[in-house]
Amino acid sequence: MAFVVTEPCIECKYTDCVDVCPVDCFYEGPNFLVIDPDGCIDCGVCEPECPTSAIVDESNVPAGQEHYVELNARYAKVWPVITAKRDPLPGADRWAEVKEKFAEFKQA
Ligand code: SF4
Ligand code: F3S
Repeated sequence: MAFVVTEPCIECKYTDCVDVCPVDCFYEGPNFLVIDPDGCIDCGVCEPECPTSAIVDESNVPAGQEHYVELNARYAKVWPVITAKRDPLPGADRWAEVKEKFAEFKQA
């Protein structure tokens, strides 16, 4: 099992999660972060840090967002690791209110 980043992160990237991960297993795309399931030690400390509640246990992914499990695993092998918090994306506070935004997901 691992923790998974889900849809609310898209276009936000607050990165509070990155600061607390003890094993540096977050990877960064243009407008989304993923967790490497092979690196995640399931400690759970990142989950309450996310302002958008985007991080969930793999067994607790909301209905309709199951594809994020595979998406995290896939892009953790492609995107660069991120190890330090940075400013959120411009417009993050506005995008945090948007529920369905997978159409905005950018892989590169
Ligand atoms: Fe990192 Fe722990 Fe979150 Fe996994 S659950 S991504 S190890 S902080
Ligand atoms: Fe994304 Fe939340 Fe981390 S918005 S970057 S999962 S703190």
